[in-house]
Amino acid sequence: MTGYGSGADRIDTTRPHPARVYDWFLGGKDNYPVDEELGSQIAGLSPDTKRIARHNRWFMHRAMRWLAGEAGIRQFLDIGSGIPTEPNLHQIVQGSAPDARVVYVDNDPIVLAHSEALLSGSAEGVTAYLDADVREPEKILRLAADVIDFDRPVALSLIALLHFVGDGDGEGEGAYALVERLVERLPAGSFLVLSQLTGDFDPESVEKGVASYAAGGVTLVPRSRRGVGRFFDGLEVVEPGLVQVVDWHPELSLGDLPVETRPVPIYGAVARKP
Ligand SMILES: C[S@@+](CC[C@H](N)C(=O)[O-])C[C@H]1O[C@@H](n2cnc3c(N)ncnc32)[C@H](O)[C@@H]1O
Repeated sequence: MTGYGSGADRIDTTRPHPARVYDWFLGGKDNYPVDEELGSQIAGLSPDTKRIARHNRWFMHRAMRWLAGEAGIRQFLDIGSGIPTEPNLHQIVQGSAPDARVVYVDNDPIVLAHSEALLSGSAEGVTAYLDADVREPEKILRLAADVIDFDRPVALSLIALLHFVGDGDGEGEGAYALVERLVERLPAGSFLVLSQLTGDFDPESVEKGVASYAAGGVTLVPRSRRGVGRFFDGLEVVEPGLVQVVDWHPELSLGDLPVETRPVPIYGAVARKP
């Protein structure tokens, strides 16, 4: 399903990319000096940045464990999947449900270049990678249908993705319309899981972070709790609701989560389509 070249020839090392900056936050090696420079600027604004990125990743782990376990989901469409970082989503869900089918989607050539690591799934399941932009929902749904049966429940995962998508002014369809279009194609019993940066707790630092990303050519759109809640309109948000990612079912963590004394400015939730 990759089918668009290796991606390596399209990697631009002259400007920072969200996937590579996040990889730097997570302590990965798939980033360049421009990414480290922006990452360091952000970390200078908030000393918790690296831990916050890890909390986001740990939220993904727990949400996927819950979806494959408690909710019994066997099909996963993960858009904005990021540079492979173990454990990856398919390793988590196929760990408990080896027959799980996973389609990863990202628009960054470096993720495509590393997608081999995302494709080594279980023998019983399927793992595929699609080089596409979330702004092309029709293309994603059409190509993902090779792996995912859209008549059966699907978990749509948009983790730490939507803060790179504006509300639609001047850049085509905005984040809310895109999520609506994707969710409307999922059958009842499907789930939406997402996380998103907020400026609710420390607006000044987050605004400076937005400016740093903008200087690097990257749009970053923090949203309030109400703004993030809008993505779940018409869906049933499961317990404990829309919360800071660190507070989402911490008991599902396999290790001890660091105790936070300051807010973790990323909201996350899981919701069921009725
Ligand atoms: C912060 S990373 C999150 C990775 C992973 N979901 C996680 O939470 O650990 C955001 C990812 O979204 C991807 N991304 C950003 N804008 C995108 C778009 N318009 N379409 C598809 N992917 C996008 C980036 O390339 C990056 O890999």
